[in-house]
Amino acid sequence: MSSSKQVKNRKGKAMDHNKININSPISNKLIGQVDAMSKEEVDSIIGKARKSWPEWNNKSSSERMKYLYRAAELLLERADELSDLMVLEVGKDKKSAYSEVVRTAEMIQSTADIAKSLNGGMIPADNFPGGAKGKFAITKRESLGVVLAVSPFNYPVNLAASKIAPALVAGNVVVFKPATQGSLSGIFLANVFKEAGIPDGVLSVVTGKGSEIGDYIVTHAGIDFINFTGSTEVGQHIASQSRMIPLLMELGGKDAAIVLEDADLELAAKHIVAGAFSYSGQRCTAIKRILVLESKAEDLIKKILVRLGELKVGNPIDTKDGIDVVPLISQNAADFVEELIVDAKEKGAKVLFGGQREGNLIHPTLLDHVTTDMRVAWEEPFGPVLPILRVKSMEEAIDLANQSEYGLQSAVFTTDMNKALEVAEKLEVGTVQINNKTERGPDNLPFLGVKNSGLGVQGIQYSIEAMTRLKSTVINL
Ligand code: NAP
Ligand code: G3H
Repeated sequence: MSSSKQVKNRKGKAMDHNKININSPISNKLIGQVDAMSKEEVDSIIGKARKSWPEWNNKSSSERMKYLYRAAELLLERADELSDLMVLEVGKDKKSAYSEVVRTAEMIQSTADIAKSLNGGMIPADNFPGGAKGKFAITKRESLGVVLAVSPFNYPVNLAASKIAPALVAGNVVVFKPATQGSLSGIFLANVFKEAGIPDGVLSVVTGKGSEIGDYIVTHAGIDFINFTGSTEVGQHIASQSRMIPLLMELGGKDAAIVLEDADLELAAKHIVAGAFSYSGQRCTAIKRILVLESKAEDLIKKILVRLGELKVGNPIDTKDGIDVVPLISQNAADFVEELIVDAKEKGAKVLFGGQREGNLIHPTLLDHVTTDMRVAWEEPFGPVLPILRVKSMEEAIDLANQSEYGLQSAVFTTDMNKALEVAEKLEVGTVQINNKTERGPDNLPFLGVKNSGLGVQGIQYSIEAMTRLKSTVINL
């Protein structure tokens, strides 16, 4: 399959020109290689996928479910091996990587379970002006064809499978483009589906840098649907390029934790620290700013500082235990986070905790007195830095939250359910968490972003709906 050419470098060492080296973000050591696929290889993969669609689509839905149940079983059997690879490839600690694999196996299994209860409908027409007795529509859902699944580095298994499993169970075939840093884990996942018996061509992997081959894939005439998770920048670029096909996009966020005067501060501090710093804040749903009522700021900060001191920081390869703050995915990612910290400090923010950097490890950093002229008030760091913006009122908190270009999630901490619901009603986001950290899971819940955070809804049932279309047959008796 690979068309790589062997050439020699200046030291006479053999190099594969069409291969991409995958180095660990932890040690920078080479851990594997993937193909930088050519346009011709992409054509061949998409062509094969198209040819495989009719047969896969014609299988009964229950037959397709069997493959998913088997894939889930195999994934659980391989959880240890796969999570070891994820530690090396994306620097996730072993405990979190293992739990991502288990969560994914459960999600694949639930996808098959949920598919069992998806029904069509019957709509009578005689209850509408112009309708007639004996006229009614029978509706069912049909697959779309070839789904392109593009996943990000940070959940290389879960965010890939949460596209692949619902697409397949609905009768689509899938061309999967993993994030390059994450493609070894993605290929491992695809091989698990293959081992579960998914026929050739029904699920295939395209590897190569998005910046080089991405535009070619997303504009390919053989693609019927794009299911993308990644940054807003790349998502918007894809949307501007793509043909007239449906898109599902889960993009960046700037999730706020709004802490009101009557909040349980212990609870708020616990969720804020877990929400902001786990996996070094490299989660779309990480808490990325605190909007706290001035009168409660000092008390909240004291509690947050205690918990920050308890975070485990370091190299996830050294331990099987959980590490909260690990080195970021790349030096570039760490440079960006450092820039945000420097900008905030220069403009008067106070570093209450952290601020140090060692290579691509940024220590958990808490910034106080952040103001709206600072970049960190608005930009998504995707790193372990948490800005505090003190506000005078609930209304100001809502207003600041809504000024963001993003609208993924927000959390509100208060013991007054009426206030919580009022805030939830006014926030321009896909999901509001009341007295909890912002989070996507469990995977059956609807998950969506508004504004620049996305397009369409994910979550098992919603993903199946997104990747199918309604077919209506009208009976006229
Ligand atoms: P990214 O740089 O946007 O990359 C995402 C995927 O897009 C990768 O597979 C990448 O491939 C590919 N890509 C890049 N350019 C492309 C192009 N022109 N055409 C097609 N594909 C292209 O994002 P990331 O750094 O992996 O992930 C972090 C970002 O994702 C953050 O902004 C985070 O908020 C967001 N995210 C959102 C959610 C959500 O559900 N809302 C979940 C997770 C992450 P290469 O790796 O080869 O460049
Ligand atoms: O990076 C974004 C993931 O979708 C986050 O998932 O909130 O369930 O950890 P999670």
